[in-house]
Amino acid sequence: MQVLIAYHSDYGNTKKMAEAIAAGMRVGHSNITIDLHSTADTDIEHLQAADVIVFGTPVHMGSMAWQMKQLIDRAAKLWMEGALEGKVGGVFATGGGFGGAGGGVEQTMVALYSNFLEHGMVVVGFPKSLPGYADGGLQWGPYGRSGNHAGMPDTVSDAALVAARSYGAHLAEIAKSMIA
Ligand SMILES: Cc1cc2nc3c(=O)[nH]c(=O)nc-3n(C[C@H](O)[C@H](O)[C@H](O)COP(=O)(O)O)c2cc1C
Repeated sequence: MQVLIAYHSDYGNTKKMAEAIAAGMRVGHSNITIDLHSTADTDIEHLQAADVIVFGTPVHMGSMAWQMKQLIDRAAKLWMEGALEGKVGGVFATGGGFGGAGGGVEQTMVALYSNFLEHGMVVVGFPKSLPGYADGGLQWGPYGRSGNHAGMPDTVSDAALVAARSYGAHLAEIAKSMIA
C-alpha cells in the first residue's frame, strides 16, 4: 500500500500530527510505504502514485492554509483526468483553538474532504469508539489544539498525538480492506 501524507506546517504542530498518523499506519502493516511531504514538496505525480492520500493543514483565519489550497488547485488537472478516483482519503488539522473549539477547524476539514469527494475518492472519518477520540478527535479526523488559554502559541498535546496515531491505524486498516 502506497501512502502520501501531504501537510503544511509553519511551526511544527501539523508536522507532528502527520508523523503520528504515519506511525499509527505502520503498526501491524509491513507492506506499506509512507511518503511524508510538505505541500511545497508534493508533486501531483505523488498524488497519482498513492493508494491513500492524507491531507493536513493548520487553520489559518478560519480555513485551510493557502499552501494546502495551492496544492489542491495544482492537482485540478487530475480531476479532469479522473486520476484520483477510488483512492482512499483522510484529513487532519491543527488550530490555536482559542475559545476551545478552534475557530474554523471543522470547516477546514470538511473543505479538504470536499476536494477529495470532487475527485471521486473514498473518505475515512474517525469513529468515536477509537482510542484518543475523546481528547483529539472529531468525526472528520484528528485535531490538535496548539494554543494555550491565553491564546498564545504552544504545542499540540500528547493526547492529540495519540488520536493521530489511532486514526492512522484505523485508516490503514480500512484502506487495506478496500484495496484488497
Ligand atoms: C496566519 C494565522 C492564522 C491563524 N488562524 C487561526 C484560526 O482561525 N483558528 C485557529 O484555531 N487557529 C488559527 N491559527 C493558529 C494555528 O492554526 C495553529 O497555531 C497551528 O497549530 C499552527 O500549525 P503549525 O505549527 O503546523 O504551523 C492561525 C495561525 C496563523 C499563523
